[in-house]
Amino acid sequence: MMRADIKPILEAIPAARQEDARHYGVHPYFTRRPANVVRAYLQRYSQEGDIVLDPFGGTGVTAIEAFLLGRHAIQNDLNPFANFIARNIADTTLASTAPLLQAFERVHLECSKGLEQIEQDEAAAKRWLKRLPLPENIRLPHNSDAEFYYDMFTPRQLAGLAIIRQAIDREGQGVVRDCLVRFGGQAEQNLPVGQRPRRKSGRLQHLQHLPLQTGIGLRRTSDMGDLQGPLS
Ligand SMILES: C[S@@+](CC[C@H](N)C(=O)[O-])C[C@H]1O[C@@H](n2cnc3c(N)ncnc32)[C@H](O)[C@@H]1O
Repeated sequence: MMRADIKPILEAIPAARQEDARHYGVHPYFTRRPANVVRAYLQRYSQEGDIVLDPFGGTGVTAIEAFLLGRHAIQNDLNPFANFIARNIADTTLASTAPLLQAFERVHLECSKGLEQIEQDEAAAKRWLKRLPLPENIRLPHNSDAEFYYDMFTPRQLAGLAIIRQAIDREGQGVVRDCLVRFGGQAEQNLPVGQRPRRKSGRLQHLQHLPLQTGIGLRRTSDMGDLQGPLS
């Protein structure tokens, strides 16, 4: 069939968001497209062995779906954070997920005591903050929800994330450490409830309604079955 003869997709394809969680749920991204819709277009407009380029690829939905469909894929995005997430979802350099599971376990063991302390007691979080390495408290762009970086977090949230980050950094450089950083998206979704962060608008309010959980976002090995897919 000539490519010019390919029939366009005229019917709406409902987004199957649940299905996306398998690969793409590891980190939120503001403009991510539903994988099942991207996949339908790839199936219609390309064949196995074709090269698929998404020059505005975001966190890699097009490239990853193309790869899973037997196409060659080229991923590009202006945003290095998007490329970081894409690279880590699709990274095939780990021959086995065992080193990742072991690293998760080490990070969990190293953090759990400190996280329990700060979850129960905001004063403890403030004490932790005095000795933890923290990123610079930069002023955020004028259209941000908060004025300064630290304004986005309560002391307990900031201390919790810094404790986890410190443990991850001890894992050294490489794909395992990058995968652990990538899971930070889930840590963010499980931040403990604490004193309301200072904010410019009402948009940070949602942090108050998240459930209190021990071991911020650190999934135990039994919760990591999704990593056993074709990309792992
Ligand atoms: C609509 S999103 C892409 C979503 C992507 N298809 C997905 O499903 O995740 C558009 C992307 O274009 C990127 N972008 C904007 N201007 C760009 C440029 N000049 N070069 C490369 N990427 C750019 C943005 O960072 C953003 O991630």
